[in-house]
Amino acid sequence: MTSSLLPTLPGHYYTDPALFAIEQDRVFATMWFSVVRGSDIAAPGAFRTVTVGRESVLVTRNRSGEARAFLNVCRHRGAQLCAADEGSVKRTFKCMYHAWAYDLDGTLVAAPNLVKMPDIDRVEYGLRRVHVREWLGYVWVCLAPGEPPSFEDEVQGACVERLGDLESVERYGIADLEVGRRIRYDVAANWKLIIENFMECYHCSTIHPELVHVLPEFAGGYAAQSYVGHGAEFGPDIQGFTVDGSPGVATIDSIAPDQDRRYFAVTIKPQVFINLVPDHVIIHRMFPLAADRTIVECDWLYLPSVIASGVDLSRSVELFDRVNRQDFEACEACQPGMASQAYASGGVLVPSEHHISAFHDWVRTRLA
Ligand code: FES
Ligand code: FE
Repeated sequence: MTSSLLPTLPGHYYTDPALFAIEQDRVFATMWFSVVRGSDIAAPGAFRTVTVGRESVLVTRNRSGEARAFLNVCRHRGAQLCAADEGSVKRTFKCMYHAWAYDLDGTLVAAPNLVKMPDIDRVEYGLRRVHVREWLGYVWVCLAPGEPPSFEDEVQGACVERLGDLESVERYGIADLEVGRRIRYDVAANWKLIIENFMECYHCSTIHPELVHVLPEFAGGYAAQSYVGHGAEFGPDIQGFTVDGSPGVATIDSIAPDQDRRYFAVTIKPQVFINLVPDHVIIHRMFPLAADRTIVECDWLYLPSVIASGVDLSRSVELFDRVNRQDFEACEACQPGMASQAYASGGVLVPSEHHISAFHDWVRTRLA
């Protein structure tokens, strides 16, 4: 007889700085990583700086409107090029140290005495570019030095694996939705605890009363992510995906009839969660900063007509904001325990959590 219990990862996977350093290289700096919403860098020269693995990455848009991303390091003597988290430049990013200046494609275009130094190749000494894709209205980067992994297999493939096909996510027209609300959470927990928490619903009846009210099947502890294509159905008396089940806003009318009145969730390893409901989409992007600290940036996306109408989004936003706070409080409750003798060889997964074991296998394989 097979056991109903499976082992978790040992505690040190969530606390060891040396292991986190390996993750920075073999996970965050190697895989596709979603950094900003395209609208965060709407105009040429608008920029954001974000942490990916151990690197600061400068994300901007060039004159032709294409997203560009660079390692945020001056090629002269290595000063950080852009210190601000966000902002905009007219034409160039200029280093504060010796004034080397780079255009929006990263080419070195000006420096004191540059004309007297003809051997400085402006492209070779341009900013170090990283791979960029735009999908679902987000800019994704990959810091892999050579060929990046296939975006279709790794990122879009995660949606296909979860929902059965790519159309199921594309029907929500996510690229054309607008940010109605963004909340940044500073979570004192390892990024893997946050993923594991998102993957299971065994905790839903304990900590998510509002969510279980809207999605009664979550009381059973089986997550929407347990079976391919499954979306959790709204309860019969529920009018919308809101904190009290009251009506939401206008439905995204391109979704399929069987996507109405349902919640779907997708995890795109290593740092994106997509939550689909009929009238909005909630996207989480994690920025792991240390073994015990993760910034989570969460966007609530609505139809442009909904945003333009000025309708009150507070009950809509509050449902998942509460869910997030409840989840992150639980993850933070686990973080100290990861360093305890009691958890040195880990804990256990009950049957409704067994699918997390595949995530653990994936982690072990990446780090091996
Ligand atoms: Fe940037 Fe010298 S370090 S110009
Ligand atoms: Fe939860």
